[in-house]
Amino acid sequence: MNKIALCFSFSTNKTSLAAKKIAAEFGPENIAMVNVENITPEQFTSYKNYILGVPTWFDGELPNYWDEFVPALEGLNLKGRKIALFGNGDQKGYPENFVDGLGIMAGILEKCGATIVGYTSADGYQFERSKALRGDKFTGLALDFENQGKQINQKIREWVKQLKGEFKQEGSRRQKKVNGNR
Ligand SMILES: Cc1cc2nc3c(=O)[nH]c(=O)nc-3n(C[C@H](O)[C@H](O)[C@H](O)COP(=O)(O)O)c2cc1C
Repeated sequence: MNKIALCFSFSTNKTSLAAKKIAAEFGPENIAMVNVENITPEQFTSYKNYILGVPTWFDGELPNYWDEFVPALEGLNLKGRKIALFGNGDQKGYPENFVDGLGIMAGILEKCGATIVGYTSADGYQFERSKALRGDKFTGLALDFENQGKQINQKIREWVKQLKGEFKQEGSRRQKKVNGNR
């Protein structure tokens, strides 16, 4: 498996903690840790599979470090790239904007041609509105350290298991096609 780019801000607390847990669960040898605070478009496009850490801030917005990269991101062709998103939010503190960042980022990446993987069920969360909802699923893994701290490890464990399958699917399908064409 090619290395998966795990992109997040190294200066965050909870997002960094979640990223480290995700890397440990995947096996650190499969992961390239990438700091979004000084990423360039060239670096960003040098991977095939990605996991992005996108917490929600400012009542339903992306944090500054992602916002600053968005203009460059919007110009990229990400066709054929698979991208999974995880994002911290607070369903009690911000029930009208719960993990909106996951939905905002998914929309931006899809416009660039990327495929979003790693959708998760919204069951078990209590909130009023979320831009991350597509039907009854979030466009990624919603992590609420404030209110569901004890569930974080389990949620990450299950999500990584799901992603291992979803990232691999593409490669094995293509490999079968290559073999079939021989
Ligand atoms: C000023 C502020 C605004 C926030 N806005 C939202 C929000 O709109 N939606 C949400 O789900 N969480 C919101 N949160 C909660 C954060 O996403 C949550 O605390 C998260 O764990 C922060 O992750 P980080 O420390 O890695 O940046 C907000 C937190 C703060 C302090």
